[in-house]
Amino acid sequence: MKFFIDTANLEQIKEAEALGVLDGVTTNPSLMAKEGIKGEKAVLQHYVDICNIVDGPVSAEVLGTDFDTIVKEGEALAKLHKNIVVKVPMIKEGIKAIKYFTDKGIKTNCTLVFSAGQALLAAKAGATMVSPFIGRVDDSNWDGVQLIEQIVQVYDNYGFATEILAASIRNPLHIVRCAEAGADIATCPLSSIEGLFKHPLTDIGLAKFLEDAKKMG
Ligand code: E4P
Repeated sequence: MKFFIDTANLEQIKEAEALGVLDGVTTNPSLMAKEGIKGEKAVLQHYVDICNIVDGPVSAEVLGTDFDTIVKEGEALAKLHKNIVVKVPMIKEGIKAIKYFTDKGIKTNCTLVFSAGQALLAAKAGATMVSPFIGRVDDSNWDGVQLIEQIVQVYDNYGFATEILAASIRNPLHIVRCAEAGADIATCPLSSIEGLFKHPLTDIGLAKFLEDAKKMG
């Protein structure tokens, strides 16, 4: 399973990269706004800065909702760096644009996916990745991990190459459950990745080993 970090915060991206287990980055307009990135020039530079930290796919989201604008924005984003993946919303115009990008060899991440039917459309359009938002599904009293299981089954049935990127992860258990379900990628806040380290028996065991080590002279 690949680990992506779901943030536009450069310090957190550097911290996750330093762990040595990071495979990529996802951003969205809300995460960019949270970092106070304003204006086209600053936004594009920020994506380049992220690409210079992590050598892996970096999702950069288009803001347009009609085919021509999505294509124009996506082509400009793709030119920024070889690792940019154009993130496109799951709407009719978005699916048309994903098919266009696929034919041009531009990588895409179909975002805001909340059903297996939407994931099927994204795969048929040739999306490189599909992003089911499991935390938001859970928030609305449905089962986000069950959605991952369903998409895994649909993609396996037909051998679709689209990677399943479990998004909107809220905690370390989400990561583990998505791994069990067969998600190809989990994009997570740094806190969820760091939560994977935690086990009280590890802490107790290490304290005991260090205490006993003192007796070794
Ligand atoms: C990433 O691709 C998504 O935009 C992100 O995981 C959404 O997460 P949220 O539901 O916590 O906003």
